[in-house]
Amino acid sequence: MPTKRKINTDATPEDVRLDHSLRPRYLTEYIGQEKTKSNLKVYIDAAKFRGDTLDHVLFYGPPGLGKTTLAGIIANEMGTNIKVTSGPAIEKPGEMAAILNNLETGDILFVDEIHRLNRQVEEVLYPAMEDFAIDIIIGKGAASRSIRLDLPHFTLVGATTRPGMLTAPLRDRFGVIDHLEYYTPEELYEIIIRSADLLDVEIDNEGAMQLAKRSRGTPRLANRLLKRVRDFAQVRYDGVITGEVARDALDLLDVDQYGLEMLDRKILETMITKFDGGPVGLDTLAATIGEDSGTIEDVYEPYLLMNGFITRTPRGRLVTPLAIRHLGYPLPDAQ
Ligand SMILES: Nc1ncnc2c1ncn2[C@@H]1O[C@H](COP(=O)(O)OP(=O)(O)O)[C@@H](O)[C@H]1O
Ligand SMILES: [Mg+2]
Repeated sequence: MPTKRKINTDATPEDVRLDHSLRPRYLTEYIGQEKTKSNLKVYIDAAKFRGDTLDHVLFYGPPGLGKTTLAGIIANEMGTNIKVTSGPAIEKPGEMAAILNNLETGDILFVDEIHRLNRQVEEVLYPAMEDFAIDIIIGKGAASRSIRLDLPHFTLVGATTRPGMLTAPLRDRFGVIDHLEYYTPEELYEIIIRSADLLDVEIDNEGAMQLAKRSRGTPRLANRLLKRVRDFAQVRYDGVITGEVARDALDLLDVDQYGLEMLDRKILETMITKFDGGPVGLDTLAATIGEDSGTIEDVYEPYLLMNGFITRTPRGRLVTPLAIRHLGYPLPDAQ
């Protein structure tokens, strides 16, 4: 059984509602990811200028950073419709063919978790993306033949947390491939102020900054923590989220000042106490903790790596002195 996580970055049903009400609709409302935004703006303006559809776009990066949001923004900016589906939702090639066949010119087809499409379904996408056509087999056995059906020009927007799991032929058919980065505390601060405004929550600068620093670079988490801390502020205080309120509430939620939560600390602690700081392989570490290795690799490790708590070596993962100090363990003697 995987360890029960208090905080993870996957969307819960409550998040889905929250995501919906807080989701930016246009590029100008989308905070941060400056490189992504300015590139997209060029592609969108150019496509509109030519009266053409946008190239197929792939977004990748950890959960909660704004991939689904960007797909919606592209549709809004292009002034087109968006059809939403996901890799695991499409089981048969015929289902994919039907979806494609129902698209209209300029439509955005958003495929979330696109790395989870099965191979036969994926193969329907190749001619669809490249030539705007699908090949359909008619009849059975020796009498069967394949006919080509033309599709309207559309834009496929794919999202994935695991770009490495995409096949090369699929990856190669995207004209734009974009990596979303973790947000800086300053960007998260802006997102929190915007969300507080939309949710009618009173928050001061210090409160917003506390939340920003402790949201692991992830807008979805920032919004979720904002709601939790708001509840806390209403029950224990006078409803306003100040620095003190935010600190108290986040301590109760087991989110530390680096934004690390219980499982992050468990990963580091296990590496320090059971593996002498490493190097330790991902699978061994996952088995020791009782967590899925894919989840550790996609959700936990990128943040720990980015913040310098661990490093990756060819022989496995190593904890850094920063992690050892942060968890209050003595540093091994120099040399
Ligand atoms: N750049 C951003 N600016 C403001 N809010 C954002 C931004 N990116 C994401 N969010 C918020 O975070 C939530 C989660 O984003 P989402 O697009 O669902 O992430 P992903 O699809 O990458 O898991 C959104 O509903 C939105 O409220
Ligand atoms: Mg998403």
